[in-house]
Amino acid sequence: MKAKIIGTGSYVPPKIITNDDLSKIVDTSDEWIRSRTGIEERRVSDPQTATSDLAYFAAKRALLSSKTDPMSIDLILVATCSPDTLFPSVSCIIQDRLGAQNAAAMDLSAACSGFNFALATAASFIESGNYKNILVVGADTLTKYLDWTDRNTCILFGDGAGAVMLKATDEDCGVLSSYLKAKGEDGKFLVMPGGGSRDPEMKNKRFIRMEGKEVFKFAVKALEESVLEVLKLSGMDISDIDFVIPHQANIRIIDHVIKKFNLPKDKVYVNLQKYGNTSAASIPMALDEAVAGNKIKKGDIVVLSGFGAGLTYAANLVKWG
Ligand code: COA
Repeated sequence: MKAKIIGTGSYVPPKIITNDDLSKIVDTSDEWIRSRTGIEERRVSDPQTATSDLAYFAAKRALLSSKTDPMSIDLILVATCSPDTLFPSVSCIIQDRLGAQNAAAMDLSAACSGFNFALATAASFIESGNYKNILVVGADTLTKYLDWTDRNTCILFGDGAGAVMLKATDEDCGVLSSYLKAKGEDGKFLVMPGGGSRDPEMKNKRFIRMEGKEVFKFAVKALEESVLEVLKLSGMDISDIDFVIPHQANIRIIDHVIKKFNLPKDKVYVNLQKYGNTSAASIPMALDEAVAGNKIKKGDIVVLSGFGAGLTYAANLVKWG
């Protein structure tokens, strides 16, 4: 049995913040942000909107596109590091809203790598024969945890959600291999210190703290390694790739990999100019857009590859069905 992606969906909140808007709050400019990151604008949730709201709409669209009855879902897996509450989980909240009473539900925390970790977990559940229909969602609202006076971080992130519906199949398609890695010793480079059990009273404000240069160096290597290794696990190499969906963090990180592997630019999907880094939502949002734009066809070999806090990095190799 393999896990086939039978539908995708995504959702972003309507409010747009442009680089020019940011230059009115911190000492930055549209030119600096575009040239150093590729980002032009990002979406920001209003105070009433939580991660589960975005996750719900993305999930609903994935169910519609795959014509899935919510009652047939066996498991809902939500990758997020910005849940509405520590519990109940986002997955339980959307289980209720979707009317998926037969589904088990759990969240998975691997920051921006979360969707790839969740997809790999879901594929293993399907391959084991335990479950047939799994909804995987990546959703984050990191703009709620930004220090809007810190120009090193507040320019990078945006809110969003993306989802895929997986079905057990004996066809020659689906998730072929997964490569998951963690580098806990470098976790200090990207941290949200406040609000956890080490600081329940939030003496440290719950803001993202990042050493950008260190994360950049890690990200370039992580993307490179995860693409090569996930291909190797299926006995393939760079020449077998039809399409790459990298984590949408910084165009310079993506360009490095394009150059390193000599990939044609039209084989690598980029939408970070519109959304910034949407964390666990970035890859499923880009996948949904690529599918809607007919960029991926039946039989294509697609690499989904990303990195994030932890530090973590991961890739999945998918044969499109
Ligand atoms: N606007 C204007 N200037 C800025 C700025 C901003 N938003 N942020 C930093 N600068 C300044 C710095 O203060 C520095 O000035 P100095 O030379 O006078 O000291 C200069 O620009 C260069 O800063 P530096 O940190 O070297 O820039 P960079 O090229 O490394 O780019 C990042 C910074 C954050 C864009 C880049 O390091 C990055 O993308 N890192 C990875 C982050 C990431 O992807 N995180 C999420 C992982 S999932």
